[in-house]
Amino acid sequence: MNDVIDARNLIKRYQVGEDAVRALDGVNLRVAEGELAAITGPSGSGKSTLMHVIGCLDVPDEGEYYLAGENVAKLSSDRLANIRNRRIGFVFQTFNLLPRMTSLENVELPLMYAGLRHGVRERAVVALERVGLQNRMFHAPNQLSGGQRQRVAIARALVTDPALILADEPTGNLDTHIGEEIMQLLLELHAGGRTILIVTHEPDIAARCRRQIHIRDGRIVEPAGGG
Ligand SMILES: Nc1ncnc2c1ncn2[C@@H]1O[C@H](COP(=O)(O)OP(=O)(O)OP(=O)(O)O)[C@@H](O)[C@H]1O
Ligand SMILES: [Mg+2]
Repeated sequence: MNDVIDARNLIKRYQVGEDAVRALDGVNLRVAEGELAAITGPSGSGKSTLMHVIGCLDVPDEGEYYLAGENVAKLSSDRLANIRNRRIGFVFQTFNLLPRMTSLENVELPLMYAGLRHGVRERAVVALERVGLQNRMFHAPNQLSGGQRQRVAIARALVTDPALILADEPTGNLDTHIGEEIMQLLLELHAGGRTILIVTHEPDIAARCRRQIHIRDGRIVEPAGGG
C-alpha cells in the first residue's frame, strides 16, 4: 500500500512577543492508504497545528512532507491551495458551512473551486445521499440540526473524492448520541476504503479507531506497535 501521509521531522514554531513555542517539535508520521487513526493529546499539544500542516493549510518551518507521494512542504500558497482542494476533505468542529447556501450548494463548492464544469450537481447529490440527507438538499444550514450540518460537511469533504479526510473534533459540538452517529458514518467511510484522521478529546471516539496517535508537547508518542 502507498503512504498517503509521509511526514519527516516536521517543525513548526510560533513567535509571540519574546516567547517562541515549538507547536511541532520533530513530528514523524506515516499513514497508509485506507487507515483510520485518532489523534489525541492534551490541549495545546499541537494537534490542530499538525492537522493544518497535514491538511496543507500551513507549511512547516522545517521537515519534509509527502502527500500521496507529492512533496508539499515548500510549495507556494497558490499551489498548496490547489493540492488542498484536490486531495483533502476537511470536517471541522463548527461545521463551517456557508449560511446563505443550501446543503446542495455547500457540497458543490469544492467542485466549483476545482473548476469542474460538468456533473457538479450530480456529484453533490450522490455525496448528500451517501450521508443520508437526500431529503435535506434544499435546506439552509440554519434549517438543519447540528448532526445534519455535520453530515453536510462530511458530504462536502467527500465530494472531490480526496485522498485524505481530516476531521478536527468532528463530534465536539454534538450531543453524545449524535456524535456517535457521526462516528458511525466515518467508520462506514473507512470501511469503504477512505483514509481518515480524527482529532478528538473523547476516549470513546478514539477507542473506535484502530490506530491511536498520541501527541504531547509537539511530539508523537504513539503506543508501541501502532502503525
Ligand atoms: N497562530 C498561533 N500563534 C501563536 N501560537 C500558536 C498559534 N497556533 C497555535 N499556537 C500554539 O501552539 C501550540 C499548539 O497549539 P494547537 O492549536 O495545535 O493545540 P491543540 O493540541 O490543537 O489544542 P486544543 O486541544 O486545545 O485544540 C499551543 O501552545 C499554542 O499556544
Ligand atoms: Mg485544536
